[in-house]
Amino acid sequence: MSAGPNQPSPPNGKQRPALTTRQGHPVHDNQNLRTVGERGPATLENYHFLEKISHFDRERVPERVVHARGTTTFGYFEAYGKLGEEPIAEYTRAKLLQEAGKRTEVAVRFSTVAGGRDSSEAARDPRGFAVKFYTEDGNWDLVGNNLGVFFIRDAIKFPDFIHSQKPDPVSFEASVAQRAFDFFSQSPEAMQMVMLVFSPRGIPAGYRFMQGFGVNTYKWVNAEGATRLVKYHWLPKQGVKSWSAEDAAAMQAQELGCHTKDLFAAIERGEHPEWELCVQLMSDEDHPELEFDPLDDTKVWPEDAFPLQPIGRMVLDRNVSNFFAENEQIAFGTGVLVDGLDFSDDKMLVGRTFSYSDTQRHRVGTNYLQLPVNQAKNAKVSSNQRDGQMAYVVDDSGTDPSVNYEPSMLAGLREAEEPAHQDQGPTISGRLTRQRIPRTNDYQQPGERYLLSEPWERDDLVANLVDALSQCDRRIQERMVWHFFMCEDELGQRVGEGLGIGADEVRELPPLSSQTLSQDEQQRLENLGHNGPRDVEGKVMTHCVPNERVAASEGETVSVAAR
Ligand code: HEM
Repeated sequence: MSAGPNQPSPPNGKQRPALTTRQGHPVHDNQNLRTVGERGPATLENYHFLEKISHFDRERVPERVVHARGTTTFGYFEAYGKLGEEPIAEYTRAKLLQEAGKRTEVAVRFSTVAGGRDSSEAARDPRGFAVKFYTEDGNWDLVGNNLGVFFIRDAIKFPDFIHSQKPDPVSFEASVAQRAFDFFSQSPEAMQMVMLVFSPRGIPAGYRFMQGFGVNTYKWVNAEGATRLVKYHWLPKQGVKSWSAEDAAAMQAQELGCHTKDLFAAIERGEHPEWELCVQLMSDEDHPELEFDPLDDTKVWPEDAFPLQPIGRMVLDRNVSNFFAENEQIAFGTGVLVDGLDFSDDKMLVGRTFSYSDTQRHRVGTNYLQLPVNQAKNAKVSSNQRDGQMAYVVDDSGTDPSVNYEPSMLAGLREAEEPAHQDQGPTISGRLTRQRIPRTNDYQQPGERYLLSEPWERDDLVANLVDALSQCDRRIQERMVWHFFMCEDELGQRVGEGLGIGADEVRELPPLSSQTLSQDEQQRLENLGHNGPRDVEGKVMTHCVPNERVAASEGETVSVAAR
């Protein structure tokens, strides 16, 4: 009987391709080593065996130092061509955004941050949301998260921050909460992100059910060279849904890869998740009138003042064909921008831009950009970069492959045309220094966020903070309660009550030596616990889209409460 199209052909059936080595030699026996006599010993000229086993010995590359657990999918981005009623060209010349209906292929990798490659996806952790657009002008990577802000605002703190989130290097697992909150207690800029991670949004019900954000501030450049500051937001058509800690624990008991499984299965079923891409824009200046610095990634831009403007949509409709090739080896970076999109002077962004390609050269290899998933597949690559480990192709260098340098009178590549406007953006001047930004304002937005959260989110946040802080030293608990009072009376009171610490017990704590309190903040400290609620009338904050609470049940999510 011949095998049908979906049925495997019988073992040894002649229709199947024959097994070979990577040298193309047919493999006649894949079950037995070559030996002297049936019982051994084996000989060293066992080429097929040595190739097979030594390749196997190298099957793993180092996992990502952060975001090791993740999953990749593919699809397309479709531009709207407009920003509000105006052509988008008024704001940016980026080609992929210009025409309504224009589609660009994308690869998207979602991830958790702190855990290793096989860790639980139900962990309380920010989620990575990294999009690679394969545009005609080369690749654009938008490497963001699901929470809109970050823990720190200066790249030099990143390795310390990550060490504090990883297990104890001596005992490995012990005191995870203690380490994390020890760092947070000394880093007031982290308060908004801490509140988001410990709210229900810290455990999304799946990758399909979360928002995404570029987080750092970027710039747009139009054909006249005019620049604007921009922040990116992805809004899921599937809605925002989160799990409680109990639901996540129940899920984790059965399944570590719950988010990957959910996304993969949905795409296989033909339920293609979709997000709308929106931007917030600001003129390209310091904006001294604002209470925060627009380049500070620990802050959101209030949406009542800087409304979200939709510019396109993204649909994910294809799963990976090989997880290793397309997920472990995919490489994103914040330096990967196309004409019309640019960096801002955000101090985190510059650190990130160095770090990503540096780690990828170490993790994947010098020629990581030659791998199919990383190639600029819709643009032509012509470069004089040569050689290095695993060089797979020789990049085009024009008519004479001998001329792998530039400039040359003989042949080779030429420089591309200059952009229309070489000089752009505001003039920058300053002395070399090492200082914090002046407008730190670390407590206002976290306080407002607390008041603008849904009641069930506030309850969940307080319970999660009390639970985690209960595992920490009293010194850390007291400093965290002090910070929470500085954010909002009610938050300080509720977390303090859970830990048995009142405002009077922390009132005398001096500000951190790394802190310079503003006049407002000094006032709050003097009245600690008696400041009254902040005024949030008319404020619309990032994340004010409803967050639906769902329960995890046998791998499916069922709604338990909606707003
Ligand atoms: C100075 C601050 C930061 C540094 C130095 C840094 C560094 C890194 C490094 C080394 C990786 C591993 C990349 C790889 O192995 O391919 C990574 C991954 C990632 N980072 Fe950051 N990061 C920083 C801040 C951030 C922030 C603020 C966000 C969110 C907006 C973010 C989002 C991501 C994402 C989504 C990934 C995973 C990319 C993927 O799926 O392959 N990082 N980061």
